[in-house]
Amino acid sequence: MLQTVYSAGLNGVDGFIVTVECNCSNRLPKFDVVGLPDAAVKEARERIKAALENNGYEFPEGEITVNMAPADRKKQGSAFDTALFVGLIGSSGIVSFGDVDDCCFIGELSLSGDIRPVSGVLCMCIAARDAGKKRIFVPAANAAEASVTDGVKVYGVKNVKELVSALSGETEIEPAVFDMSIFEKNRYSSAIDFSDVKGQAKAKRALEIAAAGGHNVLLIGPPGTGKSMLAKRIPTILPPLTFAEAIETTKLHSVAGVLPENISLLTARPFRSPHHTLSPVALAGGGSNPVPGEISLAHNGVLFLDELPEFSKQSTEVLRQPLEDRQVTITRALNRVTFPCSFMLVAAMNPCRCGYYGTGKCTCREKDIKDYLQKISGPLLDRIDIQIEVSSVSFDELSDREQGESSAQIRERVTAARSRAVERFKDDPDRIYSNATMTPSQIRKYCRLDAKASAILRGAFDSMGLSARGHDRILRVARTVADLDGSENIQAKHVAEAIQLRSLDRKYW
Ligand SMILES: Nc1ncnc2c1ncn2[C@@H]1O[C@H](COP(=O)(O)OP(=O)(O)OP(=O)(O)O)[C@@H](O)[C@H]1O
Ligand SMILES: [Mg+2]
Ligand SMILES: [Zn+2]
Repeated sequence: MLQTVYSAGLNGVDGFIVTVECNCSNRLPKFDVVGLPDAAVKEARERIKAALENNGYEFPEGEITVNMAPADRKKQGSAFDTALFVGLIGSSGIVSFGDVDDCCFIGELSLSGDIRPVSGVLCMCIAARDAGKKRIFVPAANAAEASVTDGVKVYGVKNVKELVSALSGETEIEPAVFDMSIFEKNRYSSAIDFSDVKGQAKAKRALEIAAAGGHNVLLIGPPGTGKSMLAKRIPTILPPLTFAEAIETTKLHSVAGVLPENISLLTARPFRSPHHTLSPVALAGGGSNPVPGEISLAHNGVLFLDELPEFSKQSTEVLRQPLEDRQVTITRALNRVTFPCSFMLVAAMNPCRCGYYGTGKCTCREKDIKDYLQKISGPLLDRIDIQIEVSSVSFDELSDREQGESSAQIRERVTAARSRAVERFKDDPDRIYSNATMTPSQIRKYCRLDAKASAILRGAFDSMGLSARGHDRILRVARTVADLDGSENIQAKHVAEAIQLRSLDRKYW
């Protein structure tokens, strides 16, 4: 007998529907899977057999052929187990159930018959929905995540017993429901706040500008001045995630298998802080079955590289292209996969190896300081619009009982500035969403200076020995400073502040 069921596969963050045809006939025992299955798919037989036997069923005798379509796409991993199981019990007549053409089955089987969570469930559910499926059976642990898919009924199942009894109509499972109010509520809440950081008015202002324009930032300063503390709080002053952004980011975390169980949707902008010993592949993404790296997990949020000079050349090298393209493409023999990675890069470092250069306590030799700073490649520095010094806070500042500005207050200004930018670019053929991503031609179009502002920039250009790139960077930041000021024109004071945010170039490099 032939039984057709549906499942879903994964290619990058894109799911695709897979038709599983299972045919059981009275011939010599045999089990074949065709349609580009990988080893994990072929091994499904062993898991299904044990799951059946451990739940009081017998593995069917006879010749079993499974065909997975489309035949030209690789079927990878164990997420097809559940669909194969349903196909097998249907085609062999072990259990009889009604029409399952509007169903999609996703999940891995354990030998005892538990249905185990798999990665990428949200992407697969979206694909199933788009293919017209109405009921999706997923592992219970993935039900919260799957429930974000609208327009379908999602059923979380713990084991094959539950699945069989639901299919045969013996019991009814409550569909998982996504609570949108949780998203609305949570996207504004955070355990940390900018008001936790005392003093550091200059650094806070610089981070506000960075957040408003989506500019990459480098923080330089001696140990214990609050660099990491400041960086961690950047997501709290960025505009809250939109629902669409939340879905994009959640999909990437889901595919990477790092979405916490029972979390339906990421509501806060991600803050990823990979250690400097991380491999370039783990940073950028890759593997034979490509998974997103840290840069994609930071999509729509912040990638924080603490102790930047400790990162290897290869690691910072792999960041260059993704920083420009805001996506990373991984090419494999059979396919290529693209993961989005639009993130704000925030890097921190000490000014020298001992950490105290410029404070009078430095014990490094002049040459060592140079070598230390040289470890940061020019091309990477070039992609960082804002560089700021974070100096020690005084005792008075630390013991100040007055609460500084809260993240919510800063976020309000950041959001207003971003809206100005978005409005400005809305009819541009190269539509962009932040000042940091302006192309050279957009800079010329949107960053016109009056005579006074132009004179200031000329002065800096000559005295700082700026490159053309450095010149453009100052204009981009000046545009953001003006946006925060609510000003359509870039004025002299805006340019002057933007120049300040670049002055370390001359001091350190
Ligand atoms: N401006 C500040 N306001 C309040 N607390 C601060 C401030 N700066 C530092 N601290 C305290 O000092 C701790 C260390 O700060 P943090 O880790 O951010 O320093 P850092 O600059 O990253 O140092 P390192 O260079 O060693 O990484 C913080 O956890 C916090 O408790
Ligand atoms: Mg630190
Ligand atoms: Zn030193």
